[in-house]
Amino acid sequence: MCGIIGYVGKNNSVPYIIDGLKKLEYRGYDSAGISILQKDKLVTVRAVGKVAALEKAALLASPCGTTGLGHTRWATHGKPSEENSHPHTDCLGEIVVVHNGIIENYLLLRAKLESLGHKFKSETDTEVIAHLIEENLKSVRGSNEEERLIKAVQKTNKELAGAFAYGVMWVHTPGVLVGVKNQSPLVVGVGKGESFLASDVPAFLQHTNKVLFLDEGEIAILHAGQVSVLDRFGKPKKVRVTKISWDQKTAEKGGYSHFMLKEIYDQPQAIEDTLRTARADFGKILGLDTSALRRLENVHIIACGTAYHAGLVGKYYIEQFAGIPVSVDLASEYKYRTVPHRKGTLAIAISQSGETADTIGAIKKAKELGFRTLAICNVLGSTLTRLCDSTFFTHCGPEISVASTKAFTCQITSMYALAISLGLANGNVSKTAFDKLHRELMRLSKAMSETVKLEYTVRHLTRKIYKAERFIFLGRHVHFPIALEGALKLKEVSYRSAEGFAAGEIKHGPISIIDKGTPVFMLMPQDDLFEKMLSACQECRARGAFVVALTTPGGQAQAKRVADQVIVVPQVSDFLQPVLHVVPLQFLAYWIAKRLGRDIDQPRNLAKSVTVE
Ligand code: M6R
Repeated sequence: MCGIIGYVGKNNSVPYIIDGLKKLEYRGYDSAGISILQKDKLVTVRAVGKVAALEKAALLASPCGTTGLGHTRWATHGKPSEENSHPHTDCLGEIVVVHNGIIENYLLLRAKLESLGHKFKSETDTEVIAHLIEENLKSVRGSNEEERLIKAVQKTNKELAGAFAYGVMWVHTPGVLVGVKNQSPLVVGVGKGESFLASDVPAFLQHTNKVLFLDEGEIAILHAGQVSVLDRFGKPKKVRVTKISWDQKTAEKGGYSHFMLKEIYDQPQAIEDTLRTARADFGKILGLDTSALRRLENVHIIACGTAYHAGLVGKYYIEQFAGIPVSVDLASEYKYRTVPHRKGTLAIAISQSGETADTIGAIKKAKELGFRTLAICNVLGSTLTRLCDSTFFTHCGPEISVASTKAFTCQITSMYALAISLGLANGNVSKTAFDKLHRELMRLSKAMSETVKLEYTVRHLTRKIYKAERFIFLGRHVHFPIALEGALKLKEVSYRSAEGFAAGEIKHGPISIIDKGTPVFMLMPQDDLFEKMLSACQECRARGAFVVALTTPGGQAQAKRVADQVIVVPQVSDFLQPVLHVVPLQFLAYWIAKRLGRDIDQPRNLAKSVTVE
């Protein structure tokens, strides 16, 4: 995720752009930059770190002009550095581009452009856009420079693959900005004598509440206070401006009342973004060649909290698909237990932030033991990624809410991608089986879009149960970690007591805590263990529990006979089902906390990243 902002109007664009970037900082803050069209030349200022660093640098350089673009970066291609900061330019430094998303075919395009003599200055995928427009401008005709620029942008879009949104400015078209939206967010603000281009409404909301929401494949052409749009076929489209009534705070959360809720809804896109890179990196993920992969004999997974639960799911995946024994440790425990030295061990650290002290301590120990190390992490340049031999990035964008939601589902998705990759590499999974598993994985984001529609059902259910003192979550096999995660999420944001158990274990003790009306959540998709879960429902109900069954469409009828309420989760393959089953539990935690008036995004006593032991 990155943040884009553009301004064209009557005033100096710099304060508008810097201010807009501050509002977009939640989308990434590795580095930031602005380009301003000052008379007939472009002035670019870039700085590593937060927007505050850019603001300082901009004060020194003091650019001034009525047309400009800005960007705050969440690094994907290339480390956070000044050279990799946006805006990026063509060879002549006349075309400026800011971009959000991933250009999947950038390596191919870069090679082609280099062979044509283009000189690249960064490691980013973005820079190819500037050079492509430069190249395409050579061959397009038009009655004026603006028409030529638009044609060159249209030609460029046809060559780009991936999900992206970008803004362009050209020295030969002063007072004009062009914006492109293709599966990444981009909105236009229309003010009095000024227009804005941004990744998100808060970036310009204090100046105008008149917003133009672009559809996929559309191009917006901005002049001061005037906007025109071309649809995905290149035809002019009637501009429909919406007046929005959000206040600034609501707008930062995309209209949601809390970041937690927004991030639950981010999950289809987050999974898609994570898988897009996974697809590109399959086979290279570990930085090991096939013979080294075949020599892997053990996997140690190390993590904390929610990431630990993702690790527990990962154990089932790696053992199933790669046939390699896996141990999963809480990082705070791994560090202090005796870990026998074994040849061919891979230690995998899972962490959203990459800054968790316990996880860092544990991975240092794994390194001392001579193990190969891999991070599954969401933050480029974080300590963990610098320590590990290689990293698999979850591309879910910044997670602001303390309670982890989208990072969790992307961690599980990544573990699955890794496991099937390992299985293919070490011969445990045939190519035909791999292709099938891979196809199922690629359908996950769509199923996630269906799953988030369950919010209303869960919200309604919480009206009946939010006053309960204690909640129980039960699951088996890959759903046992989901039971643990459901309980953690609820504890974290509602401060209620909640426990997750392996369903087969309750008869060995925990069943004694079930009382009349205790809400018990059963994770029971219709799989091989469905019958056993039906029995567990009966056992709990016989003790007075209020049983909620989370099942798949095929299990609905039977679940209705043994549960007080049934929630139907979309069906995917058995091993991917936990990624969807956790979603109603995230909504559950959110809505119980909301009804209890808790501080949902920053629950008491907690921090987003625990950097102390
Ligand atoms: O940044 P990390 O993934 O390393 O954080 C690990 C835990 O602190 C984290 O998952 C924590 O449990 C979450 N707040 C749970 O929602």
